[in-house]
Amino acid sequence: MAAFRIAHLSDVHVWKTTFNPVRLMSKRIVGMAALMLGRARRFRLDRLEHLVEKVESIRPDHVLITGDLTTTALPEEFEHAADALAPLLHPPGRATVIPGNHDRYTGASARGRHFERAFGRFAGAAEFPWMRFIADRTAVLGLDPTRPALSARGRLPAGQLAAARALWEEHREAVDRLIVACHYPVDAPEGLRDDLEWKRLEDSHFLAEWLTALGPHLYCCGHVHRAWAFTPPHIPDQLCLNAGAPLMVDRKGDNPPGFLEITLDDTDVAVVHHGWDGSGWVERPMAWREGFFDLARRREARPSGG
Ligand SMILES: [Fe+2]
Ligand SMILES: [Fe+2]
Repeated sequence: MAAFRIAHLSDVHVWKTTFNPVRLMSKRIVGMAALMLGRARRFRLDRLEHLVEKVESIRPDHVLITGDLTTTALPEEFEHAADALAPLLHPPGRATVIPGNHDRYTGASARGRHFERAFGRFAGAAEFPWMRFIADRTAVLGLDPTRPALSARGRLPAGQLAAARALWEEHREAVDRLIVACHYPVDAPEGLRDDLEWKRLEDSHFLAEWLTALGPHLYCCGHVHRAWAFTPPHIPDQLCLNAGAPLMVDRKGDNPPGFLEITLDDTDVAVVHHGWDGSGWVERPMAWREGFFDLARRREARPSGG
């Protein structure tokens, strides 16, 4: 198998201020207030074009975007995001895009399927969960635990998890390299767990239990605006990858905004973070796992009788 390069982005958070009182009804008023209070200063839309150029420069074979493309799920925000990211999304088979909680910000935006209208063609199917092959024996399994709610917490419906289990059982023999794409992480590295706690995935232990039985897999997420590569202690065969928020201002200098370059070379996985330090791009190796996708490891992980 030839090396396959994935650019993983997340949490772009395109925003647009609006003072239309009808639109400010409902939860959006909370988001708009937060925007006024600082999000506009924290997410630098003027850097979006520069970001897209940098992602293109690594010549990815596939681009994976794990949600929160917008801030309050306005059609104008989706339009702006789709236009700005267009160079990365062509042809559509080269890109996979899943929603984040901000892309389902209000009941109206979820019912109106604003996300699907803008980015639905970069999904594996019209409804979650789905699985799509992006390279030889390499598949992305998409999950969607987002919902319009006052809380930022997500919830994966039991039916969606059951369908994901069935999907995996149906295709597992055809997959050597599995990538689970889900906006919400199930765990965060030590020191970042408090950042996740207030906006975590509710009942995540059900998902974690299934993931533990999957064997080796990458779990690409966002939601917590920090780039990381780590293995949750209770899911030992997972390499959890968070791309961070690529337009966020890094005031302290300890969280450079950027994206991940994931290289799959046969059974090996290498992850490099490309971060903007205010004056240039800095590469930071985040993970190197030789033989990560060795199928013998999956057989070991298979639960007895399974
Ligand atoms: Fe976010
Ligand atoms: Fe989020």
